[in-house]
Amino acid sequence: MSRIAVVTGAASGIGAASARRLADEGAELWLVDRAEEALGQLAVRLSANWVAADVTEPGAAERVLDRAGGVDVLVTAAGAILRRTAEETSDADWEAALAVNLTATFRFCRAAIPAMRERGGGAIVTLGSGWGLVAGPRAVAYAATKAAVVNLTRAIAIDHGPDGIRANCVCPGDTDTPLLHDELAQLGEEAAAGIAASAAGRPLGRVAAPEEIAAAVAWLASPDAGQVTGTTLVVDGGGLAGG
Ligand SMILES: NC(=O)c1ccc[n+]([C@@H]2O[C@H](COP(=O)([O-])OP(=O)(O)OC[C@H]3O[C@@H](n4cnc5c(N)ncnc54)[C@H](O)[C@@H]3O)[C@@H](O)[C@H]2O)c1
Repeated sequence: MSRIAVVTGAASGIGAASARRLADEGAELWLVDRAEEALGQLAVRLSANWVAADVTEPGAAERVLDRAGGVDVLVTAAGAILRRTAEETSDADWEAALAVNLTATFRFCRAAIPAMRERGGGAIVTLGSGWGLVAGPRAVAYAATKAAVVNLTRAIAIDHGPDGIRANCVCPGDTDTPLLHDELAQLGEEAAAGIAASAAGRPLGRVAAPEEIAAAVAWLASPDAGQVTGTTLVVDGGGLAGG
């Protein structure tokens, strides 16, 4: 019987790469994103099910999980970046960052837990960030939400290990996706120059491809990681190696 996998943020970047990888591994996929056109195109290519939804809408997670009719793997990749200091962050900015990066992650996990328990267990993989473990400049709301995702994931792992549910957080460094390009635009940097500067600051000398993050996601979702729960897996070309 193939695994049922729900992936949020599946229309682009790391979520799309995770979807492609899980499809290669034979999972039955339920892809979720608000970018309807890109989502539909990927779903057709992967013969996947898809639900066009804003993950911040109350009830969205329950609706997706109901339609999937069960879940073995949940990947929460929907997210957004905001490069602002505290003074630059309005209430609306703060609420928007919390809604997509943290609250939606919480709600999809909450909805998946009973469905996984019913099937004897499952694997949750959340997307944190290197800036969930250390902070960086002009990223107050982003860093706060990603740190919360790291600890949300650990707390779920503690409560639901006895249900056979593993929960782990992948913390990427800069990865070549539209989000990184959006981030550079917010900082007023040219994409090529910004990516080169970020790459130069890492021991491996390059930013990640989304497929390299998806490989970590797929491993944590797989039975090979059967003893791994409550952990954060940093995939950042060594960016945090020096602390
Ligand atoms: N790219 C990086 O450098 C990087 C680094 C660290 C962490 N991350 C994290 O990885 C995750 C995936 O990022 P990515 O780089 O693939 O970004 P991306 O922009 O390529 O993809 C994010 C997807 O989430 C979707 N999305 C955003 N808000 C949504 C909403 N309210 N409802 C439904 N869908 C929504 C977007 O439409 C998009 O398809 C994010 O949580 C991000 O914070 C990315």
